Amino acid sequence: MLSVQNLEVVYDDVVLALRGVSLEIPDDRIVALLGANGAGKSTLLRALSGMLDIHDGDVRKGDVTLDGTSVARLSATAMAGRGIKHVLEGRRVFRELSVEENLRVGAHVARKDLRANLVRVYDLFPRLVERKDQLAGFLSGGEQQMLAIGRALMSGPRYLLLDEPSLGLAPMVVAQIRDIIAEINHQGTGVLLVEQNATMALQIAHHGYVMETGRVVMDRPAAELLADDDIREFYLGLGAEGERTSYRDVKHYRRRKRWAS
Ligand SMILES: Nc1ncnc2c1ncn2[C@@H]1O[C@H](COP(=O)(O)OP(=O)(O)OP(=O)(O)O)[C@@H](O)[C@H]1O
Ligand SMILES: [Mg+2]
Repeated sequence: MLSVQNLEVVYDDVVLALRGVSLEIPDDRIVALLGANGAGKSTLLRALSGMLDIHDGDVRKGDVTLDGTSVARLSATAMAGRGIKHVLEGRRVFRELSVEENLRVGAHVARKDLRANLVRVYDLFPRLVERKDQLAGFLSGGEQQMLAIGRALMSGPRYLLLDEPSLGLAPMVVAQIRDIIAEINHQGTGVLLVEQNATMALQIAHHGYVMETGRVVMDRPAAELLADDDIREFYLGLGAEGERTSYRDVKHYRRRKRWAS
């Protein structure tokens, strides 16, 4: 189990981005992490993957533990070595390398399993087989996202941290990525899924957390979050029929509601 206890993170010694966050990712689960822009979702992923350093971020209080042992101040390389792999927002691929070269680069901490991991990735993403000799820069957005996830899987991670994998993709591609994430989890990888697309994330997640300005404000089984009309409307920005309003509208609505009561 990967777990976060009462975590506080500051950037540049001044910006308090996480204000006491607690969260759990059991090995065989998909956990959704939702919330508006700037809530602290990416910061939490960085804290879990050892990437705060690069951003001048620091853990000020609390802890990150893996099977009960503190890993809060380990480097990104050390965290990758412990099986925690972070797929950054924005589909980072090596554009000038081929698809297969990108995947081989991803295998650097699991050289001996390279062939088996390559088979697993190609099974999950048949599109990547068709494209394996093409330069990654020429792939579509959806294919680049698949490649970014595939590259992370090449190290055979125990936990996959995904930062907004559906961002900017067409609905059909979002559905494909969603189903593949569910399959990755079925194969035994724990997933922390950060999403603006709350419906997509909650459809496959077992549990969901909603963050607001550095805090967890809601923590429930995913099915409950999806089923509760008030939560859908006030926390997730989803209308009754499931269409998304923007988080900005949600904020305004909540403020009005507070005044009215
Ligand atoms: N590298 C950084 N240096 C300083 N402040 C940062 C840095 N990265 C994020 N922040 C601040 O920390 C807070 C949380 O940001 P974070 O990126 O974690 O939010 P987020 O929930 O991922 O938002 P988004 O939905 O926009 O990706 C914000 O106030 C943000 O401005
Ligand atoms: Mg983010």
